[in-house]
Amino acid sequence: MDHEVIEKRAWLMGTLIAIVISVGGLVEIVPLYFQASVIAPAPGIKPYGPLELAGRDVYIREGCHLCHTQMVRPLQAEVERYGHYSLAGEAVYDHPFQFGSKRTGPDLARVGGRYSDEWHRIHLNNPRDVVPESNMPAFTWLGDALDPAEVVSKMHALRRIGVPYTDADIGSAPARVAGHTELDALVAYLQGLKFHGEVTP
Ligand code: HEC
Repeated sequence: MDHEVIEKRAWLMGTLIAIVISVGGLVEIVPLYFQASVIAPAPGIKPYGPLELAGRDVYIREGCHLCHTQMVRPLQAEVERYGHYSLAGEAVYDHPFQFGSKRTGPDLARVGGRYSDEWHRIHLNNPRDVVPESNMPAFTWLGDALDPAEVVSKMHALRRIGVPYTDADIGSAPARVAGHTELDALVAYLQGLKFHGEVTP
């Protein structure tokens, strides 16, 4: 077709541009829905336990993701600082994922086990107590008890979108969160953020 024919008809050109862009998008995006390395859980990845799940929601509610990423990029400097780069399969049970895009503070994808629970409690209550130069805000209001019924309904909702919680998982959830505070849950969640697979060089 002569170019002039296309260029003189805005609607035709617009339609053709849309088709070309859609094909480009589809070729990039559609295979990701079927590629095992992206949709299958990475080695050692299991659905969050009830306490960690509740902690993840505190993390989101408090906006931790606005200052912290959970995405170690495959760059030497990052891998040396944080550990194994993040794999897509690590986020299969994360709805929504917490990759983030802003690093006011360090990446947290590998923070689990780096500090004690006690360190996290002190740090969250007042970061300056353990990191004098820190400009992270203090989160002093996380003492409320968790609501077991809420955790159960979250697990039901996640199961509906494909997280493989069993009836036993959900049945035992209330007992596992009872008596715990939001702070306990958040610390449990942070301690679970680590690389679970074999470390490849
Ligand atoms: C306004 C930005 C900001 C927000 C919001 C924020 N942080 Fe931070 N965070 C920082 C900075 C800066 C540091 C580095 C200094 C320090 O360790 O306190 C940090 C450090 C950390 C560390 C230590 C990481 C390491 O590897 O040493 C953890 C854990 C952490 N934050 C958790 C959280 C959690 C959980 C929340 C939400 C409840 C949160 N942060 C909210 C800025 C923030």
